[in-house]
Amino acid sequence: AVWPCVTLVLQWHKEPGWGWKTQDLGFSPQDEKAPAYWNQRARRTLESALSLAPVTRRAKNIILFLGDGMGVSTVSAARIYKGQLEGRPGEDSRLAMETFPYVALAKTYNVDRQVPDSAGTGTAYLCGVKANAKTLGVSAAAAYGKCNTTWGNEVYSVLHRAKLSGKSVGIVTTTRVQHASPGAAYAHVVNREWYSDADLPKEATRQGCKDIAYQLVHNTDINVILGGGRMYMTPRRTPDPEYPTDPKQSGMRKDGLDLVERWLNAKQGARYVWDKKGLDAVDENSTDYLLGLFEPKDMKYELNRDAGTDPSIVEMTEKAVRILRRNPRGFFLFVEDDYGHARSSVEPGGGLCLAPKKAEDKRPYTSILYGNGPGYAIANGSRPDVSSLPIEDKDYRQQAAVPLDTETHAGEDVAIMAKGPMAHLFHGVQEQNYVAHVLAYAGCLEPYHAGPECPAPSCRSGSPGLGQPPSLLLLALGAASLLLRM
Ligand SMILES: *[C@@H]1O[C@H](CO)[C@@H](O)[C@H](O)[C@H]1NC(C)=O
Ligand SMILES: *[C@@H]1O[C@H](CO)[C@@H](O)[C@H](O)[C@H]1NC(C)=O
Ligand SMILES: *[C@@H]1O[C@H](CO)[C@@H](O)[C@H](O)[C@H]1NC(C)=O
Repeated sequence: AVWPCVTLVLQWHKEPGWGWKTQDLGFSPQDEKAPAYWNQRARRTLESALSLAPVTRRAKNIILFLGDGMGVSTVSAARIYKGQLEGRPGEDSRLAMETFPYVALAKTYNVDRQVPDSAGTGTAYLCGVKANAKTLGVSAAAAYGKCNTTWGNEVYSVLHRAKLSGKSVGIVTTTRVQHASPGAAYAHVVNREWYSDADLPKEATRQGCKDIAYQLVHNTDINVILGGGRMYMTPRRTPDPEYPTDPKQSGMRKDGLDLVERWLNAKQGARYVWDKKGLDAVDENSTDYLLGLFEPKDMKYELNRDAGTDPSIVEMTEKAVRILRRNPRGFFLFVEDDYGHARSSVEPGGGLCLAPKKAEDKRPYTSILYGNGPGYAIANGSRPDVSSLPIEDKDYRQQAAVPLDTETHAGEDVAIMAKGPMAHLFHGVQEQNYVAHVLAYAGCLEPYHAGPECPAPSCRSGSPGLGQPPSLLLLALGAASLLLRM
């Protein structure tokens, strides 16, 4: 049972000091038998907790990492697997994000769903307002699929508000950049699957609704966009640069627009890249705008990635930070890794042990389980014997109780882990839309921008090129502050 764990890094430092390494805990299995081992370890933890002081400055830079599919049970499995890769039993291991001092739980339900989807939740944690499932950047007054309920119900993300405040902003994702989680940062759409204009029903087109790819290029002025999603950007039958002979990967726009070209023409100092070589060659010191689209749809899972042609999420994130951090007013970066839904089908032997006892069907079972997914199997009236299955294989499908082609979201709460200025505001069990409010407060963004400790308004906020016209900017701010003041 998994769903996004939101990890937040709120930064003040000029040099992004975010690290991927954890401290060595100096573990040996023998030690665990001695009470002194546990007592001393806990005492050290207690001392560091006693010296923990909230950082009450505002944040210059904000990074929001979202693990889509990373529920608490998946975090536990990842931690154990990491320790095992280091040659230890694994349970005592710590992930980098587990060293963050503040943790909260987020209630993830959508206004119309007990078990949410990524669009409704993206709207909550990025725009600060709970919404209906499958809708992006609109309040729950907008109805799913009903184009003409969009207008007047738009809500605006912290990424958008960060841009208005003069910060540089970016999106990094391993999905297509028009997918629900990144889409909530810039799009206002009543159906998350309206990726290109070819996906819109005739009535929606007639009523003037725009697809998500179109909005990516025409709404918020985003400095760095890295992920998948080439096919929604180019006219029908435009061959894909990586798979030129496969017509299924070709462009699909019916309106004939080349949105990549349009984006490049509208921005100064802009680069477009579509493979790792291109990304590596980007000079971060002279590039103000970077669009990198590395697959026609979603990027490949890390286990299946061709490291010669596609960048990793780490490489994309590093490039994004190097470009964004040149802005003296700071930056906002949203990073999404979408893998949790896949882990039930592509499970790298991760941290999975067999439980000490057999189940009532006299067969062994793994100690961490998925509720549903493609791993459901009944052969000759019973569950396959997992001890005879290749659970170390990357294509092994973790057993699941209910058959589904991919594992779904779950209805349980997800963890928020935070460090940096105002990170202590993440505490307790909260509604998910609270996330955006803490980010806005920490970053001096609308509507929390007027404090004496906040920097004076920027004169850079008018966005060049395709940015929204000033009247729309005002509308954006008005809508955001009205909703946020409730
Ligand atoms: C919105 O569109 C629907 C058709 O989907 C139509 O029945 C309805 O009258 C429209 N509402 C407005 C206010 O235009
Ligand atoms: C970018 O500028 C920084 C600071 O001036 C410098 O340290 C770095 O080497 C430069 N990077 C490239 C790729 O030129
Ligand atoms: C099901 O049982 C038959 C007969 O005993 C056997 O040949 C077959 O391999 C079994 N199938 C599986 C998937 O265990």
